[in-house]
Amino acid sequence: MRLLFYNISSFLPIFRPQSKSVLFMIDYNNPELLVTPHKVRSGKIEWRSPSNIALIKYWGKYGQQLPCNPSISFTLDAAYTETTLEYGPKMSDKPGVAVDFLFHNQHNKPFADKIEKFLTSLLPVFPFLSQIELTIFSSNSFPHSAGIASSAASMSALALCLCTMEDELFGTLSDDVQFEQKASYISRLGSGSACRSIYSKAALWGATPESQASSDLYAIGWGHHLHPVFSTFHDDILIISKEEKNVSSTAGHKLMEGNPYSETRYMTVQARLKQMIYALKNGDVELFGDILEKEAYSLHGLMMLSDPPYLLLRPGTVSVIEKVAEFRKTKKIPLYFTLDAGPNVHLLYPDEYQDAVQAFIKSELLRYCAEGSYIPDKVGTGPKQL
Ligand code: PMV
Repeated sequence: MRLLFYNISSFLPIFRPQSKSVLFMIDYNNPELLVTPHKVRSGKIEWRSPSNIALIKYWGKYGQQLPCNPSISFTLDAAYTETTLEYGPKMSDKPGVAVDFLFHNQHNKPFADKIEKFLTSLLPVFPFLSQIELTIFSSNSFPHSAGIASSAASMSALALCLCTMEDELFGTLSDDVQFEQKASYISRLGSGSACRSIYSKAALWGATPESQASSDLYAIGWGHHLHPVFSTFHDDILIISKEEKNVSSTAGHKLMEGNPYSETRYMTVQARLKQMIYALKNGDVELFGDILEKEAYSLHGLMMLSDPPYLLLRPGTVSVIEKVAEFRKTKKIPLYFTLDAGPNVHLLYPDEYQDAVQAFIKSELLRYCAEGSYIPDKVGTGPKQL
């Protein structure tokens, strides 16, 4: 398999979606990955893959799940998906992909349809998927209805299983770097932000002059650049609402296309990424927190400036944000928040303040959480094959 990728977009002064025209795409399509049907062995592959939290947010996409701006994230630990993929010779004469999907050991038709559609879209990359039968079991470490976007964890777990299956059947992905890159690429096709979950501690996704190795097509591991204070950072997730969002991330990305402020966003986010990278490398927690919160406000500001505008924050979100600012000021503890595309609040802080922050969460913040629920999480070491 040839992996050729030249990214000359890093020579451009400004990164904008238009830079797609200068990407020479990696070509993972490989018609040779076919098995001899009666010789297929049965196999079972299991991966645990975590969620991640974007510090600089990906918001707006072009082409096939390509980001309009680069993003950087911490890989999480406690919020993960475990996926088991069983494969064997195809018994049915069903053309195309034959997959059975169980979520928390229960058949789930909407999820199964989504997975089948995704696997079908991957046939040019993994043509052997039409020659075998698959059963996929998936479960999350957090309650399904917790209002947490689980697609990063679930899509990265599935992508890792698929790449391991390719390697088991053809021995083509024994090189760790190539394996991770392909797993990140496939994860991205499933859910953009999922491509960042492949790596230990931190990941960078999207072409940026900050890194020669960066790409819109897959994320790269960034954990080795972190100052030690960030390697043990906490991210406690406060579940403000468990209800399904009224505007999905997919619809939100789409609304960036007509948003009059999107160009300004794409022109300014590079400078913000640069500052965030500086803070992460140098252990500048105050600068980190400042940029982190500005990003959360920007993301939700862009939603409010969309046409039509929409609001995903809930009264509890705003109360928590105010309480956090007050706590930081009075206690002089570097506790900062960020938000995903939803009302839940991520609280980020250095390990040394764990006891003080968790006492504060329990006494002051759980009252704003749906059924008092929160997930204490932290920076994690990335996916694990089980
Ligand atoms: O990966 P998606 O399509 O669910 O989009 C994720 C978008 C944000 O969570 C808001 C930001 C990010 O970079 O993760």
